[in-house]
Amino acid sequence: MGTIIEKTALPIGVFDSGVGGISILRELVRLMPNENYIYLGDSANAPYGTKTLDQVVELVSNDAEYLYSKGIKALVVACNTATSAGIGLLRKRYTDIPVIGIEPALKPAVLSAEHPTVLVMATPMTLREEKFRCLMQRFEEKAEIMPLPCPGLMEFVERGELQSEALEQYLYNLFAPYEKVDAVVLGCTHYPFVRKMIKKVLGDGVVLFDGGEGTARETRRQLEERRLLSLSEETGKVIFENSAKEEKLLKLCVELLNYE
Ligand code: DGL
Repeated sequence: MGTIIEKTALPIGVFDSGVGGISILRELVRLMPNENYIYLGDSANAPYGTKTLDQVVELVSNDAEYLYSKGIKALVVACNTATSAGIGLLRKRYTDIPVIGIEPALKPAVLSAEHPTVLVMATPMTLREEKFRCLMQRFEEKAEIMPLPCPGLMEFVERGELQSEALEQYLYNLFAPYEKVDAVVLGCTHYPFVRKMIKKVLGDGVVLFDGGEGTARETRRQLEERRLLSLSEETGKVIFENSAKEEKLLKLCVELLNYE
């Protein structure tokens, strides 16, 4: 256990089933550019969202332990699926650091209009788990909420395919049954990277919500509360690691971090 000054210099650990969590990392870096980050993507085992709960709990547990063993001052679970499966376990296990999770940004979407129709795009697991069912119950009187599982969508992002005819067709088929949509919640951290294509298919009138900024603000709040914010005045470093050990994936990570 180092001194408080040494602890402020430790990196923030961030993980996801793959490259999607970089949509959260981007917001963290934007808000706290002087921090150091270590990002772990588990692309070798992705997707998580179509696995069983037991499988995902085990993977999440391994991801977190790997980052924790490196010496981190906070752990950000930059994955909705991993959060719904394992956040309780991680908070119980790592009591000496803040553990921040992410959930679909349903509240701002519901409050964006008078009784809006809200589609919640997420993995089958996120939508099935208790965490989301409780969240939905809280808001079901204020909006028409429609959970929309999107198996296969994260794979486009993992391939770096952010704009293509196949992706447009996938989205077109996905949204075809819905006549009137006011707001869409991007309830998986991969989906902000296909935001442009979603807008193209649904039209500009539909408002999209994701939890990236809120998660970054919550992380800063928790670090501040524990006096763990970096004291450095220099721009911090971002280290990428990926279980798939493919050169092109690490290149994609850097591209996604700089993606506008
Ligand atoms: N990025 C993950 C999330 O936010 C899920 C992708 C997966 O299925 O692994 O839920």
